[in-house]
Amino acid sequence: MNIKITGSNGYIGQLIVAELKKKGHTVSGIKRNLLYGTSPDLQEALRNSDVLINLAGAPILQRWTTDNKEIIYNSRVVTTRNLVKAIIELPESERPGKVVSASAIGIYKSGFTHTEESNNFDEGFVGDVVKDWEHELTALPNSIKTIIFRLGVVFGKEAKTIKNMLLPFKLGLGGKIGSGEQPFPFIHEKDVVDAFLWATEKLQKNEIFNLTAPENISNKEFTNSLAQQLNRPAFFTIPPFALKLVYGKAATLLTQSPEVSSKKLLDSGFKFKYPTIRATLQNIISKA
Ligand SMILES: NC(=O)c1ccc[n+]([C@@H]2O[C@H](COP(=O)([O-])OP(=O)(O)OC[C@H]3O[C@@H](n4cnc5c(N)ncnc54)[C@H](OP(=O)(O)O)[C@@H]3O)[C@@H](O)[C@H]2O)c1
Repeated sequence: MNIKITGSNGYIGQLIVAELKKKGHTVSGIKRNLLYGTSPDLQEALRNSDVLINLAGAPILQRWTTDNKEIIYNSRVVTTRNLVKAIIELPESERPGKVVSASAIGIYKSGFTHTEESNNFDEGFVGDVVKDWEHELTALPNSIKTIIFRLGVVFGKEAKTIKNMLLPFKLGLGGKIGSGEQPFPFIHEKDVVDAFLWATEKLQKNEIFNLTAPENISNKEFTNSLAQQLNRPAFFTIPPFALKLVYGKAATLLTQSPEVSSKKLLDSGFKFKYPTIRATLQNIISKA
């Protein structure tokens, strides 16, 4: 297939591009400036492609200043709006037949467990960004199949989350965040890549899937599992106020989280290679 991808230079983008190429697909990234430019240029990039994979999005874990919020919002919502507009303006026979897009579990309200049917959405900044991001895709005609993956925290050897945590944990300075009771929906990068490839190659219906490992754990359980894997203690507690000093309001990304069910993905026949935190960390740490 001829596949176009936004966010192709990012962490997940690079992994997906490599796997698609390994499987013999023709893949090319859509340059960031095209996503904000005029529709004809973007149309040329999309013309006669089979699938568009949409991963563009500026990092969300940064201080939510007015400028940063605009960048975070526009990099998902405006870029997706422009992609959809460019697709619709193409003659029907030259449009991609499918769009597979990233989304995030941050769409859901913290403190509750959610299936894809939940519309108990987060009412803060993240919820607004993710709701609007997904909403832009609803303008696509039904002839274009749209698959949306609501991702949890992605773990892998090159994931920033793990890289940032390894040193303190290796020094025995790791610890849970606050009470540690908050859910910690995670997913191994290999399962993310497999899910995107599965959707790209096989799925023929409009679908929304939570993309998190089937095992539901808390931040405390994650902390203990990582410490155990590294054979180090993790006695500490990172106080929420310290994270607030660093990230401001964005600290809520670390101190609160929804719990998410991936049962729909399992019921649809998707097989996770790393369904538990133990299997996930075992694989990553042994490679680190
Ligand atoms: N990693 C996770 O744990 C996680 C969890 C939930 C959701 N997600 C979502 O999955 C997608 C991919 O995540 P990732 O971890 O691969 O992120 P990443 O490494 O930060 O890469 C995201 C890509 O977005 C593009 N981008 C950055 N700033 C942009 C801007 N201002 N305007 C337009 N495009 C911009 C860049 O693509 P180019 O340089 O190629 O243009 C970048 O490579 C993101 O949309 C993210 O929100 C990720």
